[in-house]
Amino acid sequence: MRETKPLDKVATIAVIDDSVPLCEMLCDLLNEEGYLTQGYFSGQTALEGMADTPPDLILLDIDMPYMDGFEVCERIQSSSLLKQIPVLFISSYSDLDDKLKAFSCGARDYVTKPIQLAEVKARIETHLSLRAYQQALEAKNETLAKTLAELKATQQQLVQTEKLAALGQVVAGVAHEINNPVSFIIGNGHVLKRNAERIESYLTDVHQQSLPSSILARRESLRIDNVVSDISPLVGDVLEAASRVSAIVDDLGLFCSQQHADKSTLKLSELVADAIKWVTANRGFEYAISLELDDSIQVIGNKRQLVQVIINLLNNGLDACKGQQFSPQIVLTSGIGSTQNQAWLSISDNGPGISDGHVQKIFDPFFTTKKVGEGMGLGLAICHRLIAEHGGDLTVQNLPEGGAKFTISLPITD
Ligand SMILES: Nc1ncnc2c1ncn2[C@@H]1O[C@H](COP(=O)(O)OP(=O)(O)OP(=O)(O)O)[C@@H](O)[C@H]1O
Ligand SMILES: [Mg+2]
Repeated sequence: MRETKPLDKVATIAVIDDSVPLCEMLCDLLNEEGYLTQGYFSGQTALEGMADTPPDLILLDIDMPYMDGFEVCERIQSSSLLKQIPVLFISSYSDLDDKLKAFSCGARDYVTKPIQLAEVKARIETHLSLRAYQQALEAKNETLAKTLAELKATQQQLVQTEKLAALGQVVAGVAHEINNPVSFIIGNGHVLKRNAERIESYLTDVHQQSLPSSILARRESLRIDNVVSDISPLVGDVLEAASRVSAIVDDLGLFCSQQHADKSTLKLSELVADAIKWVTANRGFEYAISLELDDSIQVIGNKRQLVQVIINLLNNGLDACKGQQFSPQIVLTSGIGSTQNQAWLSISDNGPGISDGHVQKIFDPFFTTKKVGEGMGLGLAICHRLIAEHGGDLTVQNLPEGGAKFTISLPITD
């Protein structure tokens, strides 16, 4: 290869011709016109050289030994790196067939021997400016496609925010209407439970006395013993159901609330410890937990919300492990992100992981695989939203050894 660098123009022309004098002469003439040139004396060396440093335009001789110009052109067209570069064939005046074949191989134009510099220069200029327009158009298209994608994302976000705002208003109204009667049910339910215990203990005493046969018959026919022993569990069920309704209303309210929560600097390991305390209080020690936490990490956030996120993720991991033969194992790890202004906390479990079809949906509100009454499908949607409101991110991946890993990233500084 022969390479020379004149000073003022930047366009690089590759000249491929097996005739060394012709190739060198063309390079010199083009250099004098201010182009950079790459001279190649065979198709093979040209393809190798151009793959390393692609030129802006290619002048290609047809008649060459080993690999003729048509084959070189076909190879250029099949290379993703080179196929956009305009190829101008160098042909003899008489070879009409060659010229037609050149176009069918992908050539943009041809120049004829003997070479007329003015003609070559005019054709080169035309194709270089066409190429420049094409490149500018491609760049504009790319920018347009990017802008369109950004617009679509913004539009979706706007629709989502508007939907949430509308839903939030409905939920706030409904929550208010539901919370009043539900708190009556819960308050009175507790009184009823205490009273039922008293009645039960009183009747136990009464039944130890010798009672008239008419009373004993009534006790039998009304199945008083069954009725009394049923009262406590039934009231217990009512209370549990009412508490669940109240929790659902709270969840919905939290999901839809747009309120700004107070934030402060919090020790990540303490948030984790609080969340574990809550989960253990509700579920007992039904799982093994290992902590690989960096005790020095502090994040900026709202304590109540962040503890709630960790509780949700722990509960999900433990729920996923239900029904498996081996006992649940949760691993919590933390660290500082590569950008240094984010910390991360990951929560992994040894459950079945998340099936491919579900990965895209698990952060959608109301997506659940749990049975009716066991899950609303709001946990992860709430977590995602809360973490996003903190300026962080919540992501999920399946572990190669099985199980799912959720990673929260949070800002370290405001
Ligand atoms: N660690 C996990 N392993 C496997 N699947 C999971 C895990 N965490 C979540 N999922 C899947 O994502 C779904 C949605 O979780 P999400 O917490 O949003 O709702 P939920 O747990 O079903 O109900 P709830 O509203 O009570 O939280 C779950 O039903 C489950 O299918
Ligand atoms: Mg959940």
